[in-house]
Order: sequence, then structure tokens, then C-alpha cells
Amino acid sequence: MNREQEIARRRTFAIISHPDAGKTTLTEKLLLFGGAIQTAGAVKSNKIKKSATSDFMEIEKQRGISVATSVMTFDYDGKKINILDTPGHKDFAEDTYRTLTAVDSVILVIDCVKGVEEQTERLMEVCRMRDTPVIIFVNKMDREGRNPFDLLDELEEKLNIRVRPLTWPVNMGSDFKGVYSLYEKKLYFFRVNKTKVEDDVLPIDINDPLLDEKVSTRDANQLREDVELIEGVYDPFDVAAYRAGKIAPVFFGSAVNNFGVKELLDGFCQVSPEPIARPTDKRVVEPEESKFSGFVFKIHANLDPRHRDRIAFLRVCSGLFERGKFYHHTRLDKDVRFSSPFSFMADAKAVVDEGFPGDVIGLYDTGTFKIGDTLTEGEDFQYQGIPSFSPELFKELVNLDPMKTKQLDKGIQQLTDEGVAQLFTLALGNRKIVGTVGELQFEVIQYRLEHEYGAKCRWVPLNTSRACWITADDKVKLNEFIRLKGNQVAYDKDQNPVFLAESDWMLRMNQDNNPAITFHKTSEFK
Ligand code: G4P
Repeated sequence: MNREQEIARRRTFAIISHPDAGKTTLTEKLLLFGGAIQTAGAVKSNKIKKSATSDFMEIEKQRGISVATSVMTFDYDGKKINILDTPGHKDFAEDTYRTLTAVDSVILVIDCVKGVEEQTERLMEVCRMRDTPVIIFVNKMDREGRNPFDLLDELEEKLNIRVRPLTWPVNMGSDFKGVYSLYEKKLYFFRVNKTKVEDDVLPIDINDPLLDEKVSTRDANQLREDVELIEGVYDPFDVAAYRAGKIAPVFFGSAVNNFGVKELLDGFCQVSPEPIARPTDKRVVEPEESKFSGFVFKIHANLDPRHRDRIAFLRVCSGLFERGKFYHHTRLDKDVRFSSPFSFMADAKAVVDEGFPGDVIGLYDTGTFKIGDTLTEGEDFQYQGIPSFSPELFKELVNLDPMKTKQLDKGIQQLTDEGVAQLFTLALGNRKIVGTVGELQFEVIQYRLEHEYGAKCRWVPLNTSRACWITADDKVKLNEFIRLKGNQVAYDKDQNPVFLAESDWMLRMNQDNNPAITFHKTSEFK
């Protein structure tokens, strides 16, 4: 197979959902179909149970599991499928946002009883920022859920995307009979825990009288009515609009019963995009270009605290990544090479000699990488699209052991490079403010500072709830604002000024009173 064919067969995506909608279950079933695992239950749930907020062993275990299942690769229907796992816990949402920068498309899982939930909306906002193509899987159809038409309306309204059903359920809950594939004109019969799919499929036109026999006249008529409505209300499915992130095809099923999953996977293989071109600060890079380039979207600390090395996750974007070759680290302007890069299989790591665009490669890192770092064959550019989002919780980091100041500084620097949290420094007194999206991160940081760096700290809560990066065309005005606001302005790791506001109201007031200043909710504003 030549390089173009290798690229064309790669499908790199993430499954996202509000916790409990069925992401882990669906992932497992996809792996079963792909032959990557043989038995159900092989994929550990990577959820931290709510009660575990102070259970550090649980956090450590979690970190272990999430390395092993960070990227799951298998071959299916001639495609090489790479599923990038995302943490379910909301306190790790930022990890998920960053992973979404490394995929070419996503599958969004919705619970048919609960509909669109809070985290679903936020995740979709991130997808829309870069027009990531989305396929929606409405799960748990074996439960008494919402009316499917109401669900579709809610999806369109809350997620701000057009939808187009490609399969349609015949009833739901205890009376769930199956789904009709609108594009294949086939009826898939629902069987609890069924393992074979082929036996339960019937190619049939909905007007065929046989349908009445198979599902009852009432259900057959309902299906005919529904299909007529769908064809009347929704435009025909347009692959180009899906790939442009404008329209999301919808599938129905029940992951835990292994139902609707194969149709989803087959549909995904047919329409999902191959590795796409990606923007850098200099130009757009096409995957087919002969020279290698890629970027780091995730950094994972080594589980063994005695070894401070980490694992950097590199998404290959163009050319061919080769083991042992020197590559240019564009931020540090130095050449680096990796003697044992590895790929992630379902539960094992294997050294790889090469990687094609779409692949994710694990690199041992001794502190040279920050999230967003770019490797090239010499050209000087930086991949875009890994913004920092405004954190929601802010605490000041106070050193409890002055003898360990160096360790603390190094520790917090490295942990924030890993993306565990964001570090801001107040010009006044050099005070360190840490911003996160969840309480759990503060506990993780405190624990890891002590166990990996030997530094002790405590947290002082701040009454800040918003951080906005500030810019202005008029530098004099910007400096004046910074001077006036004193300890409400801190600097991020790249020395960009950030305004810390107590509330949305205070933020708006400052925006209204300072029209010359632009307030950005993410760091990506260049
Ligand atoms: P998540 O990763 O999105 O957080 O969800 P996960 O797959 O862990 O699923 C959450 C719960 O929903 C699990 O039950 C799972 O068995 C159940 N589930 C998944 N798909 C379906 C489905 O199609 N129908 C029904 N009725 N339930 C489904 P749990 O009780 O939390 O865990 P478990 O003990 O069953 O593993």
C-alpha cells in the first residue's frame, strides 16, 4: 500500500457524551466489531465515581487506565480506525477539549431518556469552533425515552446544528422492535444481547405488506408515517455538508445490547472524513505533503513517580513519522529524536517504526514538550487550534515549605505544561494563581506536587470566577488598563495578560467601560 492509500484509509475520531450516556459501552462494542477485543468487559470504564473526589488511589488508577485506553486502534472494512478516548469526568473536560483538536470527526452519544445534557452542549461548542464533523448516536432505545422527533428538534436547537436521521426506531422501551435503515431500506430487528447481526436483518421497502406481518400493522403504519414526515421535513443527507460540520447524521440503537452499533460503524466508515488538512500559524498543511509534521495534544505523567518522564501524544498530520529520525521542535528551535516511539493497542504498547497522518504516537518525554508543541522536518511553523479555555475555579498556590521553593516551582510548571490546570502569575508579588475547571484538579496537583516533587502547598480560594485574555489595538490603552486594574491582571505562561473577574457581571461592566480592550474567553485569538 502506498502512502496516499495509507492516509486515505485512516479514520481518527473521538466518542463524546455527557457522563452515563453510554460512551464506554459504545466504545467497547465498536472494539468488539473491530476484533480489537474478544470479550465484553475488556474496556475498563474510565470514570471516576463521584464519591472518589478525595480517593487518590482512584485518581492514580484512573491515570493508569486512561493511558492504556487513550488511543484504541483496529482495522475494520479496510479502514484503520483510531478512537481517541476522552475522560468522562467533567473536571477533566479540558483534556477532552484538547483531544478534540487531534481528531478528524466525532461520534456524539445521547441518552434518549435525558436528551441533550449540559456537557453535551459544551463539547459540541468546541466541535463547532473548528467545524468538526459529528455523527449522533441516540442510545438506550430499549428504555422509554423521548419522542424521537422531539429529540431531533432538541438536538438542532440546543446544539445549533442541522440533523438528518439515517435510521429510524420502531417503537422504544419495552416495545422496541428495531430500527429501519432509511438509506439501505433494511429493517434491523432488536434482540436483547444478540451477538449475530446478519440473522436479524430484512431488506424491505416500507410499503411492502410483509412489514405489517413482521412488526404489526400499527407499527408498520407508524413507521410509514414517520418516514414520510422525515422525507418531507429533512433535506436528503449531504455528505459534503456533514464533512463541513453543518449537518449531523443520526443513528438510533442500544449500545449495551449491541444493537445499532454495526450500522453506526458501517455508516461511519462510509461517510467520515479521512485525515484533514490542518492550519498552522504560517500556512495550511495537507496530510499528503511528503515532509513529516505533527503536534502534541496530550501529555501524561509517568505512573512511576521515581521516573519523572512523561508520555507525549503526538498526532501525525503530514508526511511520514519515522523512528530514530531527527525532527525539529519548532518552539524550542532544536532537533530531537525518539528511539522508541510507540503505538497504543487496546491494552498493550508496541514500538512503532513509522506513523502516517491520522495516527497517534506515544513519545517518551523528559520535559521538552508542552501541549500544542509542533514537530517538523525543519520548517518553522506551529499548529493552531489548541486554545486554553477560561477556567472556572481559581486558587492561589501557597508554598508551605520555603526550603522546597525550587521543587514547587518546577512541579507546578511541569504539571501545568501537562495541561492539568492553568497557571497565572500576578505581577504584584509574583503570586501564583491556578485555574481549573474542577475541584478534582486541585487535589491532583497537591497530591502530585508532594509525591512527585517533594513540595508541600496549600490552596487559598479566590473570589475570581472568570479569566479573559485581553488585547487591544492601542498598546497604550492596554497598558493603562493593566496599570489601573493592578492585581486583577495576571499573566499566563506565555506572558499574555489575563483579566480576572469576580463575576460575569463584573466582567461585563469592565467590558462596557473599556471598549478599546477586547476580552477573549479562549487563548486562541491571534
Ligand atoms: P459513559 O461512558 O458515557 O459514562 O457511560 P457507560 O458506557 O458507562 O454507560 C452508563 C450506564 O448506561 C451503564 O450502566 C451502562 O450499562 C448503561 N447503558 C449503556 N448503553 C445502554 C443501553 O443501550 N441501554 C440501557 N438500558 N443501558 C445502557 P451502569 O449501571 O452505570 O453500569 P454497569 O454496571 O451496567 O456497567
